[in-house]
This record gives sequence, structure tokens and C-alpha cells, in this order.
Amino acid sequence: MQKDVNNLKNEALAQIMEADSLDELEEIRIAYLGRNGKITQIIKSLKDLPESEKKATGVIINQSKNSLIDAINSKKNHLKDSTRRWFDASIPGKKLNTGSTHIITQAINEISVIFERIGFIRRRYPEVEWDWYSFEALNFPENHPARDEWETFFIDTKSDPKFGSMLLTPHTSSGQIREMENVKPPIRMINIAKCYRRQLDISHYPMFHQFEGLVIDKDINITHLKGTLDYFAKSFYGQGVKSRIRPYHFQFTEPSFEVDFSCTVCLGKGCKLCGQGWLEIGGAGVVHPDVLKAGGVDPKKYTGFAFGWGVERALMMKPGLNIDDLRTLYSTKLEVLKQF
Ligand code: PHE
Repeated sequence: MQKDVNNLKNEALAQIMEADSLDELEEIRIAYLGRNGKITQIIKSLKDLPESEKKATGVIINQSKNSLIDAINSKKNHLKDSTRRWFDASIPGKKLNTGSTHIITQAINEISVIFERIGFIRRRYPEVEWDWYSFEALNFPENHPARDEWETFFIDTKSDPKFGSMLLTPHTSSGQIREMENVKPPIRMINIAKCYRRQLDISHYPMFHQFEGLVIDKDINITHLKGTLDYFAKSFYGQGVKSRIRPYHFQFTEPSFEVDFSCTVCLGKGCKLCGQGWLEIGGAGVVHPDVLKAGGVDPKKYTGFAFGWGVERALMMKPGLNIDDLRTLYSTKLEVLKQF
């Protein structure tokens, strides 16, 4: 009897070792330890043994049973482990989260490349600026009501005897003077920078971006400005889009214009978005002689043109973008950011 038990145990252990699936292992367990299993049967037959053999045989059966249970459990763990390590090429891969540049950064890059193609050099001038660069040198007399239009943030520090108050620059036009100080004509600048104004509504944000073009050379006139505007309209919005200039007033350009682009959605026919076929974008003009002088450029030798407006506004006019509230561009929600 004890010999039978040992043989059964060895037979079972051999099968357990050979098993290469959890199902197979379960079959082995049932065959030996299940309700009608071979070891179970022997346990049941213990009662028929003579009293003298019962105890010793019982001990051996129990030991065999326990060693089989141990062997099954450790094989089970081993099989589970190796299932985990098995590489299933058909399981869809884990998607890594990737970041992307912000939609405004994308627009800035696109604008830079468009202007670089026609020889403009990308510049960035200070966001924290002096009154001199933002207003005074641009021909704004002190207390001129036009200064109010810019809704400026002033910084609470001592003013400089030469440059006046410190402020957050309300437009990139401050870069016109800085560029003239840095570079002798010919100048072809595209200054893209953050600007600040005390405004917050559907089409304004207190911090925004402008891009400012400045060209100064001999014999520069309005036709060069108009050609540049048309070139930008086509490059940024598509071949069918044109520019239009209307008389306006700025302190630092003379003559001054307001610039419109033909509607990027209806291409100028007139629609819900534009009404009459045109979308207003921003300002432009021929650089005022006083501004050239303030930048150290001789207005008898050189003339120039400038234009400037919001990156956000330019971007929102792109067909198909469908962003009707500028504040969406500054949303921190991932559902918004992930779309770009
Ligand atoms: N700086 C002006 C503004 O912020 C726009 C402008 C730029 C006008 C250059 C003329 C020339 O509205």
C-alpha cells in the first residue's frame, strides 16, 4: 500500500513537471486529488486497512498529497509567469502621450517663415518697455488722447528722466524704434512679441501677440506695402485671398491705413462671418518722418512702411478653425489643446 502511494506520487510529479498549460495542470490535479482522483481513492480505502498499518500509511498519504499540492501550485505560478512574458504581437500597443506646440506658437512659426521667405528678419523686443519706445518716439505727444486707446498697463516704479514711465508694451510698434537703433537701413524686420492691454472680452485678452513688419530702404512706397500685404494674405490664408487698405489715422504713420483681407470663408462674396466680403485685420502705413528721426534714420534719404496686428486675430480668421472666442486659445483644457 505505501509503495503504491509512492508510485502514484512519483507518477503525478512527473506529469506536473511536464505540464505546459494551466488546463493540463488542472486535469492532473483532478486525476489525482479530485473527488474520484487516484490519491483520494486510496485515502477512502484507508478504512479497510488493518489497524496496525492505518496510521503509518495515513502519514505517508498526507505527505504525498501535500507535496503534490505544493508542486501543482509552484508549477501554476511558473506557467502564469511565462504567460505574462509571452509577447503577443496582435495586442494593440500602448499609446504614449506626446506633447505638441501650442496653436499660437504654430501660428508664430508659420508667420515667421512666410516673412523670412521675402527677406524679413525675425526679431523680439522687450515686453516690459519704456514709454519712450511705445509712445513718445512714435510721435504720441504727452497726454494725447490716442494714448488711451492702447489701454496700457503702467508699472509702479520711478520713471526714467529720458525714457519716461515703465510699462508693459501695448503694441509691437515699440520694436520699430529699437530696430532702427540696432540696424542701419536697409531694414526688413518682423517683430513678433507679447503685448498687453487692459481688455478682456470675446475678442480681447490682456496678454496677446502682435506681429509688426517694418521695411526701411531707399524709395520705399505704398505699393511695396500693398504687395507685402497681398503676399501675406495669399500665403497665410490661401491663393484666393486679397488685401485692401482704407485711410485711417495713426500717430506714427503718414499716410495711415486700416488693412482688411477678403473673407477667407466666402472669398469676398459676402457671408454670415464677414457681411460685405472683408474682414478687418489691423493697421499699417508709411513710417512718419518724425519716427525715422527718433530712430536715428535720415528721412531725406530713407522711407519705409510698417504694419502690425494680432497673431490671435489673424489665426482666428483662418477658414475651418471655427474658434469664435479668443479666450479659447488660452484654455488650459486638454480637450482643447489636444486638437492642435
Ligand atoms: N501698433 C498699431 C496697433 O496696435 C498697429 C500699427 C502698426 C499701425 C504699424 C500702423 C503701423 O493698433
